[in-house]
Amino acid sequence: MASRLRRNLFAALDIGSSKVCCFIGLADDNGRLRIAGIGHVIAQGMKAGSVVNLDAVENSVLNAVHAAEQMAGETIRSVYVNVSCGQPHSLHLDVDLPMHGQAVRDIDVQKLLAKSQDSYAQMTHTQNTANDNVLDRHLLHAIPVGYSLDGSRGIRDPRGMFGQQLGASVHMISAQNGALRNLGHAVQRAHLDVDDLVLTPYASGLACLVEDELDLGCTLIDLGGGTTSIGVFFDGNLLFSDIVPIGGQHITNDIARGLSTPLQQAERLKTLHGSALYSQADDDDLLNVPLVGEADDEAAPNHVPRAQLNRIIQPRAEEILETVRQRLAEAGVDKIAGQRVVLTGGGSQLSNIRELAMQVLQKNVRLGRPIRLAGLADAAGGPAFSVAAGLLHYALRGRNEGGGSKSSTGKAGNWLGRMKQWMDEIL
Ligand SMILES: Nc1ncnc2c1ncn2[C@@H]1O[C@H](COP(=O)(O)OP(=O)(O)OP(=O)(O)O)[C@@H](O)[C@H]1O
Ligand SMILES: [Mg+2]
Repeated sequence: MASRLRRNLFAALDIGSSKVCCFIGLADDNGRLRIAGIGHVIAQGMKAGSVVNLDAVENSVLNAVHAAEQMAGETIRSVYVNVSCGQPHSLHLDVDLPMHGQAVRDIDVQKLLAKSQDSYAQMTHTQNTANDNVLDRHLLHAIPVGYSLDGSRGIRDPRGMFGQQLGASVHMISAQNGALRNLGHAVQRAHLDVDDLVLTPYASGLACLVEDELDLGCTLIDLGGGTTSIGVFFDGNLLFSDIVPIGGQHITNDIARGLSTPLQQAERLKTLHGSALYSQADDDDLLNVPLVGEADDEAAPNHVPRAQLNRIIQPRAEEILETVRQRLAEAGVDKIAGQRVVLTGGGSQLSNIRELAMQVLQKNVRLGRPIRLAGLADAAGGPAFSVAAGLLHYALRGRNEGGGSKSSTGKAGNWLGRMKQWMDEIL
């Protein structure tokens, strides 16, 4: 069956540092998503969210997609892909458009968003020329985060309202072209087109946050293997985002080095016995730790107190959360983000990470996993799958808006066209 032609079929590809995961989703007539197929494999050829070996990533993608297709009984030709690479950067631009007392129409909002993209292009061009340092960045999202009419701010949807001057604050998210090219190239080599590129914390937030969190202000932190993604949501939009290239793999590396044990053993110790909070009470709890080079059964394992393991884990987990705190403070979004934090990603399964995050960030923290998705089995409903689930929500939002004017996904009208053109040019 030519399932790829079905309008209600979407495919998501989360190319992570630890695993590559493909979700195939079907939307029903009420706009609800049901998962039809899932495939995930250990990621090869990725480091800190970036492609470092094209062949290996292509292979991982092929395997994950194949498994999802088998389960769904459908073939896919294109995918929504997340981006954690290319040093993503967030900035806000204010733009306006004269209205001459007329009512705001779809086309006016579209014009305003197009203007923001033109201003952004001009601004980066000038900066690059001035610095003689061509950064070569691509605009991933242009998200209108609030409109104003004649200086009166806080308007969520201005269509139908009257005024002299329509204004918007637009959140621009860009990433370096080279890294995006490698990502797109790995996907294309697996015979798939890219429907769209979506910043990782954006997708993760769409999957995990409840409406009130999206509206009232919330910080989403996706603790991955090689990266930690930050998304601040307010008034239903993504207001700020950042990605830090440290994650759970760094904790595992620290354990392997600190206890002279192979990486596989370090990973096992972390997930089974590790805790983000060190406690002296764990001094009496002895763990068997095979030493590097002596992993066979004959060799007597080293006995290490559990407290020693956690004394290695805690400082790295603290470093990750402290870096998030600093990034939020530097961006000045700490206040607007409110008191609510949601932790997700595979790393959020580390015992006591919620408690540590509460201490470091001084906020209310809950653990998050994908919500609003039917047919997601327990095995694929965990926090490591938030991004794949969120990519499907993003795809559905885009479809429901039909490329219309008020684009909450940050793709307004011809912007999607330009994006596709860009993909064709660079790949
Ligand atoms: N029970 C657990 N306790 C602690 N850490 C865990 C647990 N389960 C998984 N992890 C960690 O989660 C990390 C992988 O998370 P995830 O699958 O979200 O990463 P990824 O999406 O592949 O990577 P990234 O988002 O950084 O590109 C690994 O470092 C792994 O050790
Ligand atoms: Mg991830």
